[in-house]
Amino acid sequence: ESIEKGGYEHFMLKEIFEQPRSILDSMRGRMIAERNHLMMGGIREYENKFANANRILIVACGTSWHAGLVAEYLIEDLARIPVEVEYASEFRYRNPIVSENDIVIAISQSGETADTLAAIELAKSKGATIFGICNVVGSSIARATDAGAYTHAGPEIGVASTKAFTAQVTVLTLIAMIIGSKRGTIETTKLHQLIAELEQIPAKVEQTLKLDKQIEEISEIYKDATNFLYLGRGYNFPVALEGALKLKEISYIHAEGYPAAEMKHGPIALIDEQMPVVVIATKDSSYEKIVSNVQEVKARKGKVIAIVTEGDTTIPAMADHVIEIPETSEHLMPLLSVVPLQLLSYHIAVMRGCNVDQPRNLAKSVTVE
Ligand code: AGP
Repeated sequence: ESIEKGGYEHFMLKEIFEQPRSILDSMRGRMIAERNHLMMGGIREYENKFANANRILIVACGTSWHAGLVAEYLIEDLARIPVEVEYASEFRYRNPIVSENDIVIAISQSGETADTLAAIELAKSKGATIFGICNVVGSSIARATDAGAYTHAGPEIGVASTKAFTAQVTVLTLIAMIIGSKRGTIETTKLHQLIAELEQIPAKVEQTLKLDKQIEEISEIYKDATNFLYLGRGYNFPVALEGALKLKEISYIHAEGYPAAEMKHGPIALIDEQMPVVVIATKDSSYEKIVSNVQEVKARKGKVIAIVTEGDTTIPAMADHVIEIPETSEHLMPLLSVVPLQLLSYHIAVMRGCNVDQPRNLAKSVTVE
């Protein structure tokens, strides 16, 4: 087993550190940046169907559902097709309205999640085209779908999903760009810019991983907290949910992810000097808004751990701890901003003596209801 861990103490840490490579593998053969060329075997036959879809429904669970939420922002912005993201477990029992012109994207690392599989069967019975995004080749979901794309992240052993998430987001980004260019909803210059930015993501993830030591020090300060709040807006909102889920599942600390602006509708009541608030506040179209949210937290003496874009000075002046990550387009930011949150949950869990790779009560894939 120690050989399989490749010198890392846990599979989770190994998988976090594999991300520059796994993200690259998920793009390999699908993007030739020098030629501004995108292609995806799995989607080729269905490109017209995607381009003419009335609506895209995304079904998934857990971390894969969070990747689906990122895709909602990407597809609606770049391809201008309405997207709905559904918990597979709710979708399957809700008598949902699905038509033949809908495309259902099912996202699953394992390809064995029972609820996602059942949601696929239901959507299929209503005539929708089903597209799968799975990591495990030949899995039940991969076999049950009409077409699909593998994420090629390599085996993920840690129960807490890390590299599978970033690979899913990468594949979904490529899909949004492919459909957007087919539909003519994305300007050529913007498309080329995104391709160039995406190509740099593995190197920027590598750079982000260098923050490990700093994140370990912050973890030491907050390892005994009983609650955490994670806030983000726009593309970073799903990242806030994902950061909170990671912390809950491996450290057993109660954590909630929230869209930062929703804080004033309830969770703000929780904030006092005992409450660590992780704010993902990178430079994007909602930056000014999130600056006010950080002020709101500080006014109530919450402890702010801010994930910011390199060179930012406004948020660092207010936050208790600052984690600086490289700049990229907001469309791609989840691929970078999730990394410090993975490391934060990892270090806190290790410091609390938790079984990081096999947390209590959890299985790698949930094959029962
Ligand atoms: C992620 O860290 C979780 N362990 C869990 O939420 C997981 O993402 C979910 O069960 C879905 O699994 P899947 O991607 O294999 O379908």
